[in-house]
Amino acid sequence: MWIDLKNHATRVADRRIEELFADDSRAQTYSTTALGMLFDYSKTQIDADVMDTLIALAKASEVEARRDAMFRGDKINETEGRAVLHTALRNLDGGAIEVDGADVMPEVLGTLDRMEALAEEIRAGDITDVVNIGIGGSDLGPVMGVLALAPYHDGPRCHFVSNVDGADIADTLRGCDPEKTMFIVASKTFTTIETMTNARTAKAWLADKGVSEEGRFVALSSNVDGAGAFGIPAERVFGFEDWVGGRYSMWGPIGLSMMIAIGGAAFRAFLRGGQAMDRHFQAAELHENLPVLLALVGIWHNQGMGYASRAVLPYDNRLMRLPAYLQQLEMESNGKGVAMDGSDLAVQSGPIVWGEPGTNGQHAFYQLIHQGTAVVPCEFLVAAQGHEQDLKHHHQLLVANCFAQSEALMRGRTLDEARAKVAGKFEGDELERQARHRVFPGNRPSTTLIYDQLDPEILGKIIALYEHRVFVEGVILGINSYDQWGVELGKELATALGPVVTGDASAADKDGSTQQLVSFFLRHNA
Ligand code: F6P
Repeated sequence: MWIDLKNHATRVADRRIEELFADDSRAQTYSTTALGMLFDYSKTQIDADVMDTLIALAKASEVEARRDAMFRGDKINETEGRAVLHTALRNLDGGAIEVDGADVMPEVLGTLDRMEALAEEIRAGDITDVVNIGIGGSDLGPVMGVLALAPYHDGPRCHFVSNVDGADIADTLRGCDPEKTMFIVASKTFTTIETMTNARTAKAWLADKGVSEEGRFVALSSNVDGAGAFGIPAERVFGFEDWVGGRYSMWGPIGLSMMIAIGGAAFRAFLRGGQAMDRHFQAAELHENLPVLLALVGIWHNQGMGYASRAVLPYDNRLMRLPAYLQQLEMESNGKGVAMDGSDLAVQSGPIVWGEPGTNGQHAFYQLIHQGTAVVPCEFLVAAQGHEQDLKHHHQLLVANCFAQSEALMRGRTLDEARAKVAGKFEGDELERQARHRVFPGNRPSTTLIYDQLDPEILGKIIALYEHRVFVEGVILGINSYDQWGVELGKELATALGPVVTGDASAADKDGSTQQLVSFFLRHNA
């Protein structure tokens, strides 16, 4: 079937997307409305035959059976022998979910209640600043969520320290009052070197200021013993199980900073949004199923058309960290060249994901998107309504820009149109030269997800939508989206280089480049 997809790519290579709109019903045929959002993928080369092949691929990969296995709690993370049940964290009014014969829901809901009790206590108390110390999945979700839900933020200020670069924590703590600051140490494993280093620095900072650390630390982790050894008492540890992957964990304890920012009720609305998307994913037919459609468009562009990257372009400034969040979600999940059974992947692995909010990106990298030689499929996100009622004209301009970009990418500008633009200003060869610089090839695919307003529930729907999209793409590619062996080697080598950069071990067994870098560092690091 992959060969069929490639054949379609060859078939449509010279076709203009714009011409597909000669069919008046194209926009409706290649879009789906569900859960208060419209996903429009009509500005792509997908036609009925491409769609048939994509749906056939999904069926042949048993997407529906794998989906049901995931929700059921089967151990679909085969390389680690784990279930994949972040969906249980938002199963607010759902039934029992069993792992190894035991219902996990009482524990999940109990932890949620405990989180809420603490969050409300902090929100009502004297703490003015909450510092979440975590990295990767223990950082990107809450930082993205807190920024996204700024209009609902009525709790203490939230800061996020992730980088082992001391600049991160130093810059953060400079603005904090030690008497009124608390720390959340967020780490699934409670062993991550960046997080442990920053957590120890936070402890030292409090000690240095003469403030007791009692009641100032909370841990979010699967490693309750590790948190205890760090000095955080069990009643201030919020645990979660190994069936919640780091990059899928913002729905549970890892979301505590978000809950402190927006309150328990708004956080539950976020969970409800995620749960609504779960139900849609489980119930909707493949051709009307939002996560499946996003995945099929992704597969078409990456493995079909051969476009290696995709840009995520939120025309919603508060989603400024969504691209970074999706980089981990998508690239750590599907950036793998080995299939579940250990064989080499038959096709290209998941895409390179990148992006920035519009309209800022327009004044930075859109030049390449419009006129560069590489085609970058673009995924636009935009809200029908902003929150700033007194600034409606801003929102209208924002939306006009978003729609204009997808139109421009598709239409482009012909040489004749470019000549008309410069006629009168130039003549002869110079006119020709100037016109050529103003040609836009067009025919560049994009999709648009438009939703009502970026509130907690919609954010939950959007994040769950992308999670399930990653799942479906992973199933079709035949990989395990839930392990991340590719991060190990760098960690091991960094550990080995630790004593080398302190001058306590020799770099003699390293390659010439690494030796040279170490030598420069040691000479310049006073
Ligand atoms: O290095 C990758 C990774 O393991 C991610 O998968 C994870 O989100 C991040 O590190 C942080 O891990 P932890 O929450 O265990 O500190």
